[in-house]
Amino acid sequence: MESRTAVAHPNIAFIKYWGNRDAALRIPLNGSISMNLAGLETRTSVRFDGSLSSDQFILNDQNQTGKPLQRVSAFLNVIRNLANQAQFAQVESKNNFPLGAGIASSASAFAALALAGSQAAGLALPEKDLSRLARLGSGSAARSVPGGYVEWQAGYSDADSFACSIAGPEYWNLVDLIAIVDPLEKVTGSSEGHDLAATSPLNPLRQSGVNERLAICREAILKRDFAAFAEVVEADSHWMHAVMRTSNPPLYYWRPETEVILWQVLAWRKAGHAICATVDAGPNVHIMALENEIAWLKAELTQIQGIKDLILARPGPGAVLV
Ligand code: PMV
Repeated sequence: MESRTAVAHPNIAFIKYWGNRDAALRIPLNGSISMNLAGLETRTSVRFDGSLSSDQFILNDQNQTGKPLQRVSAFLNVIRNLANQAQFAQVESKNNFPLGAGIASSASAFAALALAGSQAAGLALPEKDLSRLARLGSGSAARSVPGGYVEWQAGYSDADSFACSIAGPEYWNLVDLIAIVDPLEKVTGSSEGHDLAATSPLNPLRQSGVNERLAICREAILKRDFAAFAEVVEADSHWMHAVMRTSNPPLYYWRPETEVILWQVLAWRKAGHAICATVDAGPNVHIMALENEIAWLKAELTQIQGIKDLILARPGPGAVLV
């Protein structure tokens, strides 16, 4: 069968997904909102081939075995079931950002694999079903399928848990300046992390406020209201890390440098700058800012010790075939 190639971008969550209602189907405990990151991408080609005796997965020119291959194979099984086909596949994937940059690649990886894989198997899935499919590989991948600013409605079942665009990438030119403080991969992956959310006594409290934060964030994006956006984004990030730190065993993703940057961003905002910060399941800080803040911000950040790299990303499109 013919090869199909797709490109997808990672995303940064403004209102975070942490914890599942159903871990196997990745039905989240709460909805989430994110922005796709242009400039960072995963490019994946899939070809089903009757002469193969097993699936093959080549990532950044390296043949993969063990867990990475198993995760891709399990995902291909879902596609094979949907398309009613039995052939094994060759999957070749490349990230233009280093895997060790501390930027989660699972969202762009499974969004690209869902699109290239389903097309290579002869399926032409509508966006909603592509988002549902990507969700089965990695929850946040559901949000890398639609373009720009995206909301994943939690839903209650496989059928109603998918993401939609709330505004295109050109709607609001927010910039994400990612301060890399630790380029190594995280110790506890998010799949295991989600299972720990329920062990935190703070989890019900976090959940009780999330719908309100979703509404505030959605409206702030639609009104391009940076002040409202900044407050809710930082609050939601702190709620997620509070749950992580108080789970059993606790998850502590930050480094001392993470704290320094967060403190500094808050001080700069209080001084009138349109910036705020959010942190995913790792130590690196995503500083969200309006375009006119970038030049001085970059100059200031290079003065902070312990920042190993700065990566700039603007709002990006959804997953596309190339
Ligand atoms: O998609 P996962 O299982 O890698 O989980 C992503 C979790 C966070 O990045 C911490 C939050 C989010 O909503 O992206």
